[in-house]
Amino acid sequence: MRRIQGRWAEVAFPEAFMDELIARNDIVSVVSGYTVLKRQGTRHFGLCPFHNEKTPSFTVTPEKDLFYCFGCGKGGGVVTFIMEIEGLSFSDAVYFLARRSGMTVPDREEDKTARMRARILRLNLDAAKWYRANLGGIQGRAAADFLKKRRITPKTAARFGLGAAPDSWDSLINAMTQAGYTKQELIDAGLAVPGKSGGLYDRFRNKLIFPVIDVRGDIIGFGSRVLDDSKPKYVNSPDTIAYSKRRSLYGIHLAKNTKRSDLILCEGNIDVLTMHQAGFDNAVATMGTSLTQEQIKLISRYTKELVLCYDNDDAGMKATNRAIELLSGSEISTRVIRLPQIEKDGIRVKVDVDDFINLRGRDAFERLLLGSENNVEYLLSRLREGIDFSDDSQKVAYLRKAGELIAGLASPVEREVYSAREAEAAGVPAEAMRLEVQRFRKARLKTAKSKREREALSPARTVQPKERAIRYGNVRSAIAEEGVIRLIANYPEFIERISLEPGEFSSQVLEKAYEVFRAAVREGRPPGISCLEGQLTQQETSLLAHVLSEPAEIENVQKALEDYIAVIRSEREKEAAAHDENALTAILREYRSKKGYGG
Ligand code: UTP
Ligand code: MN
Repeated sequence: MRRIQGRWAEVAFPEAFMDELIARNDIVSVVSGYTVLKRQGTRHFGLCPFHNEKTPSFTVTPEKDLFYCFGCGKGGGVVTFIMEIEGLSFSDAVYFLARRSGMTVPDREEDKTARMRARILRLNLDAAKWYRANLGGIQGRAAADFLKKRRITPKTAARFGLGAAPDSWDSLINAMTQAGYTKQELIDAGLAVPGKSGGLYDRFRNKLIFPVIDVRGDIIGFGSRVLDDSKPKYVNSPDTIAYSKRRSLYGIHLAKNTKRSDLILCEGNIDVLTMHQAGFDNAVATMGTSLTQEQIKLISRYTKELVLCYDNDDAGMKATNRAIELLSGSEISTRVIRLPQIEKDGIRVKVDVDDFINLRGRDAFERLLLGSENNVEYLLSRLREGIDFSDDSQKVAYLRKAGELIAGLASPVEREVYSAREAEAAGVPAEAMRLEVQRFRKARLKTAKSKREREALSPARTVQPKERAIRYGNVRSAIAEEGVIRLIANYPEFIERISLEPGEFSSQVLEKAYEVFRAAVREGRPPGISCLEGQLTQQETSLLAHVLSEPAEIENVQKALEDYIAVIRSEREKEAAAHDENALTAILREYRSKKGYGG
């Protein structure tokens, strides 16, 4: 099985079988069963079997195992061709071609993947029980003491299934292999790590263990914390066939059943424990990563209201801005809790919600929650910070920025309310603020209009793929990405000589092609449309067939690749710069595009 960027691609059939299937079903002879082909150079031309035409625009390129119609835009490899022409699913098309060439179809890998996943979930459960049992014994003494010190009660520990990993290199491995699990399964579950000298050791040693439980109640992975001040403070399971960090939230198995109307997003595992213990059973946390689109989707299955409760340090504020930006593109409304600095031994310190609840108590937190600001209020009050309102120039600068932010709000009522409020706070007439907002709004309307007009005329529009379902977010980058894909399909040896990473792509389809091609080359197989069949939608396959069907004879391949990569990287840098603009502009941008400024 092939691993693609942390996900397990569910490749339906073994690669060796697919390679043989494609080799035995020569695309020219298969297609010739449906339309007459005439050879012209390296390509064969014919009337397209998928649409009515009088002059041939349908091509087959046997050396690339692909077909593409310049008329209707359909394209792909031999399996796609059969799927389309015979109206079959991917696996039925594979059976069709296997029968045609006298091959037997082996077991589906999909079933194997599902079996492996179920096995890992079982192992995780047994491991969690074992860790948990340790917590009551001598092995778990240090972890139990730590919990006591952090005021986590045994009841809370039980609800979260907390456990202890003993200070040993292999006790989990021994216990689980005795229970019938293989070493490979322990590795696949992320519980054991192969050593350099061929040995195997426990990933979690001398740690407090936090099982990560999903909404179905399955234990999908683990987090763990050191019991002293050593670094790193937390060690987590890697992504596995059962665990994707991007898609998980710590505490969701309990928080999904809360009676409260919202969810509270905190920064860490201990924060979640403390919150639940204090009665805020709607708390969840991302574990050491920033909020993802997938997590937002997960949240929106349960609520449309989210309260952000990150630490009040620089990292926490950055995370808050990021989260506001990401959430502004969703249907979830966002509030932000601002944890105050707290006096501790005579000095004011920044705290996290765990500290706050332990120092001030649950009622104080409930008040913070009631007083929490919505995203606009939060951004406005962040703008207000450090402004000396007795200094006119500072005041004017502040009102400008506030006016710009307010001008970005879609609702006239909201604009009115916030204008009046900010005017009053700054001690200026409401009318002055209203004018300021109007000025920004006019400017914005104008830019929006000319942008729309530019877009309507822009040649870039014609560069978007023919396939309606696929739109390039960044056309300039995507064209360069297409170039890379086309070149390495023709000159596979160059893929090892370039430093481009899949994560640098802007187009998901092209990124996937790049990953698959790279994996293929490493396994000594030729990259091309055949490696992708069954892994893409029909539209995506057609797009790639188009990209690959264009000729790529070129003098200096290395130089061409470097030029493409330079374009891709400069586009990524531009995007990163845009991303780092504060959340304020992000909100403005969002409101603008969502509501379309028609007025
Ligand atoms: P923090 O460093 O804020 O820890 O990391 P914390 O939750 O306050 O922990 P305590 O209170 O000292 O026990 C927040 C979260 O980021 C992840 C963990 O999930 C942690 O809960 N993290 C942190 C890591 O994954 N790795 C690290 O090295 C540190
Ligand atoms: Mn903490």
